[in-house]
Amino acid sequence: MKFLTIAASLAIATLSAVSALPVNMSAFKPRALTCPTDVLSCTSASNGLDGCCVPTMGLILLVQQWYNGLGPANEFTIHGLWPDTCSGGQGPANGCDAARVYSDIDTRLRNYPATPAGFMDDLNTYWGSYKGDNNAFWSHEWSKHGTCVSTLAPTCAGSSYVQDQDVFNYFKTTLALRKQYNLYSVLSGAGINPGSTPDSDDMHAAIKAAYGVDAQINCASGVLSEIWLFFKVNAAGTYVPAEALTQGSCNGNISYPVKSGTTIPSSSIKPSSTTTRTSSTSTPTSVPTGTPTGLPEGRQTGSCSTNGATVCVKNGVSNQYSKCNSGTWILNQCKTGLVCHSDTVTSTHCA
Ligand SMILES: *[C@@H]1O[C@H](CO)[C@@H](O)[C@H](O)[C@H]1NC(C)=O
Ligand SMILES: *[C@@H]1O[C@H](CO)[C@@H](O)[C@H](O)[C@H]1NC(C)=O
Repeated sequence: MKFLTIAASLAIATLSAVSALPVNMSAFKPRALTCPTDVLSCTSASNGLDGCCVPTMGLILLVQQWYNGLGPANEFTIHGLWPDTCSGGQGPANGCDAARVYSDIDTRLRNYPATPAGFMDDLNTYWGSYKGDNNAFWSHEWSKHGTCVSTLAPTCAGSSYVQDQDVFNYFKTTLALRKQYNLYSVLSGAGINPGSTPDSDDMHAAIKAAYGVDAQINCASGVLSEIWLFFKVNAAGTYVPAEALTQGSCNGNISYPVKSGTTIPSSSIKPSSTTTRTSSTSTPTSVPTGTPTGLPEGRQTGSCSTNGATVCVKNGVSNQYSKCNSGTWILNQCKTGLVCHSDTVTSTHCA
C-alpha cells in the first residue's frame, strides 16, 4: 500500500485551541508544529483537533468516472475530491465558504505563480467535463467541495497565504491522487478490461487486493459510471485509504464499455499487462466547414495524430479550442477576454 504525501500543501498550518477567540490571524506563524502528524481524520484521536490540522469533514472521497469521450481510453477521469463527514454526510450544496465561491478556476490556475508547465493540460485530460466546459466544471467542484476542505482555508496559512494557493493545492492534490490510485491499472491487472461484462464482486475484490480497502462502485442502468475511493487524512497531508461506507449501485455482471480515445502508456501500479487494444472505435469528429476561412472548427474528440495541433471550437467567437495532447483531443481555452482564431488546419491563436 502506498500513501501519498502532499507535504506543505494541505494542512501545514496549525491552530491551537484558541481558534474561537477573535485573534489577528496574520500574527500567527505557520502553525504546523502543534499538529500531531500521526493522527488521522475521523478517528477518536482526532476529536477536538483543529480544522487546520485535519479536515473537519474528514472522510475524503476521490471520485473517478468512466465516461466515453473523456480522457484516454485506458484511464478513468476525475469527477471530484469530496470531503464528507465521518459518517458520509455531504457538505452544504453551495460549499463552505461563500467568499471563495469562484467561477473562474481556469484563469486562477493559469495565473497562479507556482502552476507548473503541463498542469492545465493534465487537468484538461484527466478532469474534463462531459458538458464540454471544463472551467465551469472545475469551478463547481472547487466551490462546492474544495471550500469544504478545512485545512486549505486561508486562515490556516496565516500571513503566508498566497492568493489561490488553496485552489491550486486542491487541484494538485486531486490530480496526484488520481495518478496514484489508477483504477484502470488495478482492474486491468486483475484481468478486468473494457469491452467486457465483469462481475462487480470481482471489481471490488481487485480494488481491495490493491488498496486494502473496498471502494464504492456505481452504475447507471447496469453500466459502470463511477468508482469512489475513501480516504482519511493526517496533518502531514498523507491520504490513507479507508473502507468505503457502501458498496454502490452495481450488482452482479455489469457493462464496462470501451471508451473512445487513445490508449496511452499508463503510469501503472502494476507494470503493464499488455494493452494491445487499439481504439478503432474512436470517431474522428466531424469538422464543420463553412467558416469564412474554410479552416476546421468545432470541438474535436477521440484520438488525434498531430501532437500540439489546435482547432477553434468556434472561430472568432468562442474562447475554447481543442488541442491534440499525447494522441487525444482535449478541450482548452484562451485566457478570459480572448477568443480563438483559426490560422491553419492545425494551428490557432488567442486574441
Ligand atoms: C495583524 O497583524 C499584522 C502583523 O502583526 C499587522 O500588520 C496587521 O495590521 C494586523 N491587522 C489587524 C487588523 O490588526
Ligand atoms: C460475469 O462475470 C464473470 C466474472 O467476471 C465472468 O466469468 C462471466 O463470463 C460473466 N458473465 C457474463 C454473462 O458476462
